Amino acid sequence: MDKLLIRGGGPLSGEIRVSGSKNAALPILAATLLSSEPVRVSNLPHLHDITTMIALLRSMGTELLVDEKLCVEINGATTKQTTAPYELVKTMRASILVLGPLLAHFGRARVSFPGGCAIGSRPVDQHLRGLEAMGAQIDVDEGYITATCPNGRLKGAHILFDMVTVGGTENVLMAACLAEGRTVLENAAREPEIIDLANCLIAMGAKISGHGSATITIDGVEKLGGCSYSVMPDRIEAGTYLVAAAATRGNIKLRDIDPNTLDAVLVKLEEAGAKIEHGEDWISLDMEGRRPKAVSFKTVPYPGFPTDMQAQFTAMNAVAEGVAKVSETIFENRLIQTHEMNRMGANISVDGNTALITGTERLKGAPVMASDLRASASLVIAGLVADGETLVDRIYHIDRGYECIEEKFLSLGADIRRVSS
Ligand code: EPZ
Repeated sequence: MDKLLIRGGGPLSGEIRVSGSKNAALPILAATLLSSEPVRVSNLPHLHDITTMIALLRSMGTELLVDEKLCVEINGATTKQTTAPYELVKTMRASILVLGPLLAHFGRARVSFPGGCAIGSRPVDQHLRGLEAMGAQIDVDEGYITATCPNGRLKGAHILFDMVTVGGTENVLMAACLAEGRTVLENAAREPEIIDLANCLIAMGAKISGHGSATITIDGVEKLGGCSYSVMPDRIEAGTYLVAAAATRGNIKLRDIDPNTLDAVLVKLEEAGAKIEHGEDWISLDMEGRRPKAVSFKTVPYPGFPTDMQAQFTAMNAVAEGVAKVSETIFENRLIQTHEMNRMGANISVDGNTALITGTERLKGAPVMASDLRASASLVIAGLVADGETLVDRIYHIDRGYECIEEKFLSLGADIRRVSS
């Protein structure tokens, strides 16, 4: 099992390119199942989760071509069977995103029930309720969700989500594209990845409006065609490197990123004392050698502060000037990385879903264990600002969401390398 060996050092500096967004690519790859013609998807990040989604599509007999730049061409019409097996779903919860497209295009789907993960139970009741509202028959047995369309085709419906759910919005949005009539989604997720998915569906011929707002309207069509689509840049990867630069008092520039997708994060970084500049497709951050100031926040659905950036900011707060209060309101167990940081000399107390972080000048390197994707990234950041060596174990979590993480950090001046145990 690989580990990352990090030797704490000085400020990060330099320039890197942001990769394509994992959380936009996964629903867009699932959406190709809706199409009756080849869909070409580019700017995919080379990540384990992307490979898993491609393997899942191939396991259903869907014909796809992958070129040397990891552009894929997928023809949903060639899908031969509509079961997503446990062996693949258990390695990636986002496999649930094939449920809506399979049901809408082929009238049936059988998807292994995605389990919880380290950050929470992560139920999918909103996905299922939305599809039932459109006329689907949903049965759960032997750990599988079986969905069918008794009337042959889903029907448009007015759906109100009980809570803002990114995956639930994506699954029902995709299914509604081929339903008969109009579907209106209320309390829909507003994340940029939803907008990216909707734009890809529109390029395939879907009739969607309101994406990016809390109310999305879809007028179903008989069939969807092919298109070529380039996945948006990964705003969470970008935010992770910006926070690492802030924690190390550095000065970096990111290319191929839309700063408008990171408003809440940039506001908090400026509050921490960073000098931020940006253009249409780049962001620069300069701490001018200053120690970051502690910043408090509460994670909420977009456009508020993203839960996927909480762990990274917790690492920055661990070495910031002052005391920060961080509340995680989206997932029930997403402060787990704080215990590993305390082993590195951080001063973090946790009460329920709130952490109180009293910053110290430096941390102390230690062997630590990653528990989920963003927690792993926060431990890498902690290692960059620790004296001595930090060995991060279980970095398969990182390889799910950060393309070439050690190469990118090395190019910014970090002392980091992958070691095999
Ligand atoms: C997506 O997960 C992202 N994953 C997550 O990123 C991200 O943290 C999350 O949205 C929130 O922004 C992908 O896009 C692949 P939700 P998702 O449905 O769709 C509850 C990362 O690090 N809920 O918005 O699974 C749920 O338990 C990953 O890249 C229900 O109760 O998240 C959670 O408390 C981690 N019932 C809240 O809603 C449902 O049917 C938000 O979950 C669905 C969700």
